[in-house]
Formats: sequence, C-alpha cells, structure tokens
Amino acid sequence: FKSYTITLLPGDGIGPEVVSIAKNALLRVSSIEGFELKFKEMPMGGAALDLTGVPLPEDTLSAAKDSDAVLLGAIGGYKWDNNEKHLKPETGLLQLREGLKVFANLRPATVLPQLVDASTLKKEVAEGVDLMVVRELTGGIYFGKPRGLSTNEFGEECGFNTEVYAAHEIDRIARVAFETARRRRGKLCSVDKANVLEASMLWRRRVEKLASEYPDVELSHMYVDNAAMQLVRNPKQFDTIVTNNIFGDILSDEASMITGSIGMLPSASLGESGPGLFEPIHGSAPDIAGQDKANPLATVLSAGMLLKYGLGEEKAAQRLDSAVLDTLNRGFRTGDIYSAGLVRYFLISFL
Ligand code: NAD
Ligand code: IPM
Ligand code: MN
Repeated sequence: FKSYTITLLPGDGIGPEVVSIAKNALLRVSSIEGFELKFKEMPMGGAALDLTGVPLPEDTLSAAKDSDAVLLGAIGGYKWDNNEKHLKPETGLLQLREGLKVFANLRPATVLPQLVDASTLKKEVAEGVDLMVVRELTGGIYFGKPRGLSTNEFGEECGFNTEVYAAHEIDRIARVAFETARRRRGKLCSVDKANVLEASMLWRRRVEKLASEYPDVELSHMYVDNAAMQLVRNPKQFDTIVTNNIFGDILSDEASMITGSIGMLPSASLGESGPGLFEPIHGSAPDIAGQDKANPLATVLSAGMLLKYGLGEEKAAQRLDSAVLDTLNRGFRTGDIYSAGLVRYFLISFL
C-alpha cells in the first residue's frame, strides 16, 4: 500500500480557495486508485509573513524538502507590496524554488476543444494549439548578481539587476527541453535575445551544441520579441519552447490567454532529484479573492502534474485530467472561461 506526503502551501489571495479544491480532488482520486496521501499544510508568502515575520519559514522549506511533492496556490498581495525585498512574499517563492533546486519549469498551454470559444484569438488560430514552455527557473536575472539599489555619479537613484547564465545551467535546462520535445512532436524552439545580450549569445551557442545529441529533434531559434508576436499570430507553429527565467515568465502568461484564461495553466517545477513543486502559473489575484470567482482548474491540473511527474501515479493523473474535461463538457465554468459559444451550445442541446 503506497503512501505519499504532500506539502500544501495555500499562500495568499485565491491561493487557499484553489488549493482546497485541488486537495479534495487529490484525496478522492487517491482513494479510488488505492494509495494514501498525507497532507501537511504550511504557511508561505504573505500568510507566513503575518504569522512568522518571514515569507518562507525554515519549517516550511524543510517540510517541503521532506515530502514527496509540493502543491502551491499563489502568494502576494497589496498588503505586502511595499515591503523590503527580503520581506516580500515573492522573495519567499524564489527561495522555495532555489531551496528545492527545481530549475526546470514545465508550463503546458493546450487549447481544449471545449474552450476554443473562450480564447481571445480567432477560432481558426486558437484551435488545436498544444505547446509546452520549458522555463529555466533558478537562474537568470531573477537571481543574478550584482543586483540592488544605489546612487549614480550624479546622485540619482538607480536600480540594477544582472542577467547571468553559467554554461551548466543552460545545458541542463536545454536537456530537459530536448527530452520534452522528443516525447512530444519533436520540435524545439529556443527563445532568446542573442542579437543584444551576451547571456543569450552563450545560451544559443550551448543549445546549438547539444542539438547534435538529439538528431530526432528539429531545433530552431527565435528572438523573444518575435516569439511574443508569433504566439498570437500563429501559435500552432510551436511544439516545445525553451527559454530563460524572465522570458518564460512573460511568454507563458501570454500563451495562457490563447487557451482561454490564465486560470487554466498549470505548471511543474522539477530538479535533478528531490520533490517537485507544482503550482498554477497565475498569481494570488487579489482583485477577485474571497468572491468565489477564482478558476481552480489551473491548480487542479497542477495536482494532475503532481500525480504524473511528482509521484509517477499516471492512472490517477489521467483520471483527474478527465474529470476536468467532464466538468467543462457539462458546461460548469468560472467567469474567466465563460462564453457566448457555451450559451449557444446549451441552448441548442436543451431544445
Ligand atoms: P495574477 O495572475 O494574480 O492576476 C492577473 C489577472 O488574472 C487578474 O485580473 C486576476 O483576477 C486574473 N486571474 C488570475 N488567476 C485567476 C484564476 N485562477 N481565475 C480567474 N482569474 C484569475 O497577477 P497579478 O495581478 O499581476 O499579481 C497579483 C499578485 O500575485 C502579486 O502580488 C504577484 O506578485 C503575485 N503573483 C504570484 C504568483 C505565484 O504565486 N506563483 C504568480 C504571479 C503573480
Ligand atoms: C510566476 C510568478 C513569479 C515569477 C513571481 C510571483 C515571483 O510571476 O510564478 O510566474 O516571476 O516567477
Ligand atoms: Mn508569472
């Protein structure tokens, strides 16, 4: 009889709302599939700041490290926006990713047939889109040094950050991306800014070098500005995208809207070993928190990725994913993915 420990980090805003729905779904699916899940809920982000004074308490990080997988809701909110950097909820999230060494962030964006009408793109552009953003998660400008606030030679305030990648950091994320592309449709697009940034020049060179080890994968390169445009022009051209931390952050939010809503996009963050971190790509949505409006499906689908990538419970993952599809098929949706097309469909089917 298999038993797993899951650390739950509900966080702030809509985080607790969506995590509780995903937790109940996980409990149900585990009992059907015959394994046990033990949940340990820990404070994180703003909730942890209010409780303990820091955004990632030591107990939370060690519980996360000691578990089989971690499910996070979201962190952040107006209340803590003006905190000093080390006391921001977002800093806690970066410390968690760094602490778990989860350098590979997989963000799938799939346009479900049920949601084509919810996309902001035309039906013929959106339908059939199925892409995966492989985002580097523990390096780049998020972590690069030097960084800080200072004063320049004219006595003017300055803020500065550094985009830095070591060769091994590029190689390991590129390998994950090549492997991912190999298991998908065999196409990998590496997105960078190699026409301007040295870190991107090295990125492109290292990715190019690894390509010879993956002759079955068709590699292309694209500048990030063009990629942002191509994603809304013709998103079906993409299979797997690999990119750095900040470009991946931005492009995955953009890709989410093709699928209908940011409330639909899950993610899995994985390292070489140790527990994975599973979280929706959206934030704490303070504008809708506490109003029962949040779409929980990004978190439920993240729980599905937890079952698949985190625990290796493929059958349970499939069961959860099909329950999401059934829910959508019956027309049950939150406001972010509601559409006139749905009303049309049900009106006809009820006649
Ligand atoms: P956000 O993703 O929280 O919200 C952007 C917009 O999308 C809002 O209008 C929101 O209502 C909507 N939205 C997001 N998730 C939704 C859902 N599940 N269902 C329906 N609508 C949804 O981004 P933001 O407003 O830029 O940031 C708010 C806070 O969240 C900030 O403090 C930010 O730092 C934090 N944040 C945290 C994470 C994380 O925890 N991983 C990710 C992004 C932002
Ligand atoms: C995300 C978020 C985070 C990021 C923030 C909250 C630190 O936007 O998970 O996409 O930039 O990685
Ligand atoms: Mn983001």
